[in-house]
Amino acid sequence: MSDGAVARRAVAGFRTEYGVEPTGRWAAPGRVNLIGEHTDYNDGYVLPFALPQQTVIAAAAARRANWSVWSETNGERISFDDAGLAPGAVPGWGAYVAGVVWALREAGHRVPHAELAIASDVPLGAGLSSSAALESAVLTALADLGGLDLPVDDRPRLAQRAENEYVGAPTGVMDQSASIRCRAGHALFLDCRSLAVEHIPFDLAEAGLAIVVLDSRAEHRHVDGEYADRRRVCEEAARQLGVPALRDIGPADLPGALDRLSDEVTRRRARHVVTENQRVLDTVALLRDRRIRDIGPLLTASHASMRDDFEITVPEVDTAVDAALAAGAYGARMTGGGFGGCVVALTEADNADAVAVAVTDAFAERGFTRPRAFTALPGPGARRLP
Ligand code: GLA
Repeated sequence: MSDGAVARRAVAGFRTEYGVEPTGRWAAPGRVNLIGEHTDYNDGYVLPFALPQQTVIAAAAARRANWSVWSETNGERISFDDAGLAPGAVPGWGAYVAGVVWALREAGHRVPHAELAIASDVPLGAGLSSSAALESAVLTALADLGGLDLPVDDRPRLAQRAENEYVGAPTGVMDQSASIRCRAGHALFLDCRSLAVEHIPFDLAEAGLAIVVLDSRAEHRHVDGEYADRRRVCEEAARQLGVPALRDIGPADLPGALDRLSDEVTRRRARHVVTENQRVLDTVALLRDRRIRDIGPLLTASHASMRDDFEITVPEVDTAVDAALAAGAYGARMTGGGFGGCVVALTEADNADAVAVAVTDAFAERGFTRPRAFTALPGPGARRLP
């Protein structure tokens, strides 16, 4: 989409800040998750695809022994050196960059000192993985600049470690995997236990379909505490069931498993994860048969499960889903961690505008902030730009 514009801004920023030309430009995208929510940290299945929106880094080896980072988004430049790298030492947005350097060094890599300039068109705070895009872009740039021996398959875990242990957010591995491993025209079917992937053809344009991404712009309320709470309850459910993770419970085991759980809330949380894993598998089976339209009911069932069992939706996203369906979408669901963020709706391409208008009208009626809408085709994962 705006590949060129964002890259040009990163390069222009680099020249202004450092007075020389960058060695190269690296890009990593944001993502939407088609289906499979809060399954990643339960060792389950997810099916994200990369957005055309991305974070671009212009970079070169440093002329002094540190890392300098300029961000267009934040309008500031920070620097840190080997001695100032401990978790907690670099606060704010710089933690996403320093965290990657730290995680690479913890894994035994010699990370090149570098000068970096960052520009991005991934919306911030909308649940589209702007932080994973930043981590993945930094990782890709530094791995290339330093000639690090770092297979692509191993990169998401390192970026996740930066997020978990340096930034301090207890997320799973989906977002970094999507940003690093996705392919254009495909959704990424990822087994979050083995990290095995299958690139599932998801050619919306060829099928005459569109995914409309509706940013509810609802303020993320208590998102960190609620996310950590869901994760804790899922781990507790697995412990009560005597399995390593909820992934190990199949739909056939579910009724018996629910009987063994201690309370109603834990039962509902577990039911979401178990049924959601199955919905991912069912979606993948339909997509393998090129039956894209038929995944609609699975998307909508996923939303109902997040709303009723996992309790992570808010009125804005529920309204967006209802309005999209009423406007003829085949299916719609919240995507991402929850408590705000975006909805994805699958519809005929020539109905995409009508879906966006219907959601905008429904928001106006309820006095919600005006939503933003765009259509998204699956783009490529992290890479060096030519
Ligand atoms: C956030 C996290 C992911 C995943 C989703 C929910 O995006 O970063 O790891 O848990 O929420 O599916």
